[in-house]
Amino acid sequence: MAASKKPLSEKAPGFAATIKPYFSECYRNHMNSKDFVPGPFDLWSAAAVQKNWPKIKNAVRAGYMPPDEEEGCEGSWDQAKIGQFLKDFQAWKDGGFQP
Ligand code: HEM
Repeated sequence: MAASKKPLSEKAPGFAATIKPYFSECYRNHMNSKDFVPGPFDLWSAAAVQKNWPKIKNAVRAGYMPPDEEEGCEGSWDQAKIGQFLKDFQAWKDGGFQP
């Protein structure tokens, strides 16, 4: 039934268009630095974000990542942004981690 088919973008959000834009260059640089983080990883790498999916989800949901402005960068997210991120992040997983 072609008529009921949704466009791919609605069905399955991709990393480049939907997930990566949440991660600013500053967030990325901090999380990817051994100077700050004991287990650094690259927030701009779809493979690394997929691998760390449960940890990222829990850290964002708890409001623990991204951290306060005092830690550097743009600071933490408000509830609306956290909610939107978690929705998109879940949809990215449910859609099979599209690039
Ligand atoms: C949206 C952006 C960010 C995400 C999704 C993120 C995600 C995470 C995750 C998943 C962990 C591992 C937690 C665990 O092992 O359970 C972590 C640890 C950590 N992150 Fe981030 N992070 C972000 C931004 C930042 C920024 C901007 C900084 C510093 C300014 C930072 C500093 C740290 C540090 C120091 C740790 C390790 C120590 C700890 O767990 O408290 N992160 N982050």
